[in-house]
Amino acid sequence: MTYFDGFGAPVSHNNQHDIDEFHRAAVLMLGYAPDPVAIIREVLERSPDFIMARCFLAGMYLVASNKERQKDLAAQYHLLAPLFDKANERERGHIKAIKLWIDGDFYAASQAYADILFDHPRDLCALQFGHQTDFLLGHVSSTRDRPARVMSHWSEADPEYSYILGMQAFGMEEAGHYQQAEARALQCVSLNPKDTWGVHALAHCYEMQGKTKNGISFMQDCEDKWANNNYLSIHNRWHLSLYWIENCEFETALQMHDQYMAVSPQSEMMDMHDSAALLWRLHLDGVDVGERWVPAANNYENYLDQAYMPFNDMHAMMSMVATGRDQQADKLVAALEDNLDGSTASSDIIKLAGLPIVKGIRAFGRADYETAKTLLANARHNAHMIGGSIAQRDVINLTLLEAAIRSGDQSMANGLLAERTLMKPSSPLSDMFGARANAAVAD
Ligand SMILES: [Fe+2]
Repeated sequence: MTYFDGFGAPVSHNNQHDIDEFHRAAVLMLGYAPDPVAIIREVLERSPDFIMARCFLAGMYLVASNKERQKDLAAQYHLLAPLFDKANERERGHIKAIKLWIDGDFYAASQAYADILFDHPRDLCALQFGHQTDFLLGHVSSTRDRPARVMSHWSEADPEYSYILGMQAFGMEEAGHYQQAEARALQCVSLNPKDTWGVHALAHCYEMQGKTKNGISFMQDCEDKWANNNYLSIHNRWHLSLYWIENCEFETALQMHDQYMAVSPQSEMMDMHDSAALLWRLHLDGVDVGERWVPAANNYENYLDQAYMPFNDMHAMMSMVATGRDQQADKLVAALEDNLDGSTASSDIIKLAGLPIVKGIRAFGRADYETAKTLLANARHNAHMIGGSIAQRDVINLTLLEAAIRSGDQSMANGLLAERTLMKPSSPLSDMFGARANAAVAD
């Protein structure tokens, strides 16, 4: 007899209670709610050979983006490998993806998760982990297409349908199909107002189209649905802060930082990035953020030698230069340079995007605006390789713009502002940068 998980994908395990608990954890994971890992650890405590549960735990470590979790991932693979012969075809797909990721072949690992879906479109864990790898690797077309591949196998009758719509909406937004993305995100949150990835997708839609007013009212109106007890709450606060910045309401953005994004020693890396990205943008906007950088910089010092995901390193570098930690900034660059010639995907990403962007941020921080301009201008169209969203990577464009202004390069500044105006025709933030570009020349 074949057992199926709560989504309808086959599992080789035969304890129904364990399978139900697995499903409970997976649904929490899809909603970014606590604490799926704790549930799965309990399940594995009593049933260590529950292969799909172990694949799930490994997948959570795989998409964590913090190199520290790679050790946990390797430990899980060590336990999974002897179970390979007992695994069903779907589970073997997960084990294959995990092994490829450990070997540094991130792109093949991402595809291995996609391959599972051809035969098992009801495998929402494969979809979610694959979706997260698309995000980490900046695979825009796959972010759009992966959910589309399984959509016909789901309907509104499925309680988990919103999660697929949320992924689809985010993927379409990243790929620039804003109207379709917005429609799907609205469908997602109307089906499940607590689908925080759907909320997040809609926040992106409004951000990218310059629909600042819509963004603020939407996020504020449903704040009670996304802001509590959810791993995305800080990031969704960050999105709301971006609207305030777009409106040049910097004090409100700063207050939001202090209330919701201030870093502590326990902060997760992705939450540290939200703080760093917001402070850096405010710094570019001419706001004095005082000593707010210090806690993040202290935390980032623990990760300077990872040379794993340059998206992390970009934010770490912001905190190093903002706190005048020159030696640590150089240590970060040296770690990336040491990994240029490796055989992993990390090395390719570092070479083509990570290193020039990180060095560009360092140059900006040291007021070497000519070097910053050259590095950032040359690398920014490869920036998708470092992962994250277009909205997150826009900080690179903004840094380049400010470097152009500070170096008196009005033609570059005007050209970059014209790019911004294409998507955001009415932007107080762009107007402010434009006025400063003109004033810099007048001076
Ligand atoms: Fe986002």
